[in-house]
Amino acid sequence: MNLAAIFPFEYPLPTAFYLFWYVLTLVIHVVFMNYVLGGITYLGLSSLAGRPNRNQLALMLRDWMPFAIGVAITAGVAPLLFIQILYQKAFYTANLLLFHRWMIILPILIVGFYLTYLLKAKKVADWPYAVRVLLGLASFACFAFIAYSWTENYLLSMESKEQWAEFYGSSKIMYDNAAKLPRLGIWFLGAFATMGMLVGWQLWYKNQHENVKLVSILAILGLIASGVCGYIYKGMVEAHMPNSPYLYLGLGCGVVQILLWVVQMTKAKFSGMLLTLISVVCPLGIVGMTVVREQVRLAAIDLEPLYPLHKAAMGVSGIVCFLFFFLLNAGLILYIFRLVKKNWIGGEMEAE
Ligand code: HEM
Repeated sequence: MNLAAIFPFEYPLPTAFYLFWYVLTLVIHVVFMNYVLGGITYLGLSSLAGRPNRNQLALMLRDWMPFAIGVAITAGVAPLLFIQILYQKAFYTANLLLFHRWMIILPILIVGFYLTYLLKAKKVADWPYAVRVLLGLASFACFAFIAYSWTENYLLSMESKEQWAEFYGSSKIMYDNAAKLPRLGIWFLGAFATMGMLVGWQLWYKNQHENVKLVSILAILGLIASGVCGYIYKGMVEAHMPNSPYLYLGLGCGVVQILLWVVQMTKAKFSGMLLTLISVVCPLGIVGMTVVREQVRLAAIDLEPLYPLHKAAMGVSGIVCFLFFFLLNAGLILYIFRLVKKNWIGGEMEAE
C-alpha cells in the first residue's frame, strides 16, 4: 500500500502532528455532539405529539442532555485550537466574512443549553401543549443552527480569494453553497447512530429495554440517510474527493453498523455484545469520515506555505501545562459522573 496515501504521513512532522491531533480531537467532539444533535432532534420533534414524551429513551436523553452539551462544547475546544494553527488565514477569513452570523452561535449556544434544563423540569409537563412544543422546537432549532453554522464556515473557508471577495461584496448574511445541505445531512443524520450507541449503553446499564426497536430504527435510518447525503455531497466535490482508504473505512463501518443494529432490533433487550461491537465500529467509522473530511479540505487549500508556521508553533512549549490541565479536567469529569451516579434515584433525575 502507498504509505503516502495514509494520512498524514505525506506531511512534514509539525504539520502531520497538528493534523493528527486535530482529527483525533475532532472525532471526540463529533461523538458527543452527535448525542446532542440526535437527542435534541428526537426530543424536539417528539414534543409535537400530544402528551409529553415519557418513554425511557426520552427520559434518559432529557436527563443527560445538559451534561452531553457540556462535554460536546468542552471537546470542541481542542480541535478549535488545532484548526487555527493548521489553516490560519482560511479559517479566520471565513469567520470574519460571516461575522455576526458566526458570532451569534455563542448566545444561541447559551440559550439552547439553558432550554435543555427547562426541558428536564417536571413542571413543564403541566404547561400548555403550545408552550411545550415551542420549548422543544426552540431547543432543537438552537443546536440545528449551530451545526449549520459550522458546516457553512467549513465550506466558506475552502473558497478561493475571488469567491471570498465576491461574498464580501454581496453583503449577504448567509453563504450560498449547494453543498451545504447534503454536507450538513451527513453529520446531522449520521448523528442518530452515535446517539443510539451512547444512549443504548445508558439504557442497557439501567436495564431499561422498552425502546430497543426505536433506538435501532433511528440508528439504521440515520446511517442510510447520512449515506445518501454523502453520495450527493461526493458528486459535488468530486474534484477534491480523494480515492482514500479512509473513505472505504467509513463506508464499511457504516454498513457493518447497519447490520449490527438490524440484529439488535430483533432482540427484546439491548445486548452488551452487540453494543460492544457497535462501539468499536462506530468510532472507527467516524475516524474514517473525519479523515476524508480533512483530505477534501487539504485538496482545496495549499498547506505548503504554512509549513514553517506549523514548525514555529511546534517549537513553542507548553506540553507539561497542557497535560496537567488535561488530567485535572478528565479527573473532574469522572468525579461528576460518580456524583451523578450516586444521586440517581430510581432511574430518573428530573429537576423540580
Ligand atoms: C453543542 C453544539 C455544537 C454542535 C451541534 C456542533 C456541531 C458541529 C458539526 C455538525 C460540525 C461539522 C461541520 C462540517 O464538517 O460540516 C462541527 C465541527 C466543529 N466543531 Fe462543533 N458543534 C457544537 C459546538 C461546538 C463548540 C462549542 C466548539 C468549540 C469550542 C466546536 C468546535 C468545532 C470545530 C473546531 C469543528 C471543526 C470545524 C472545521 O473543521 O472547519 N463545536 N461541529
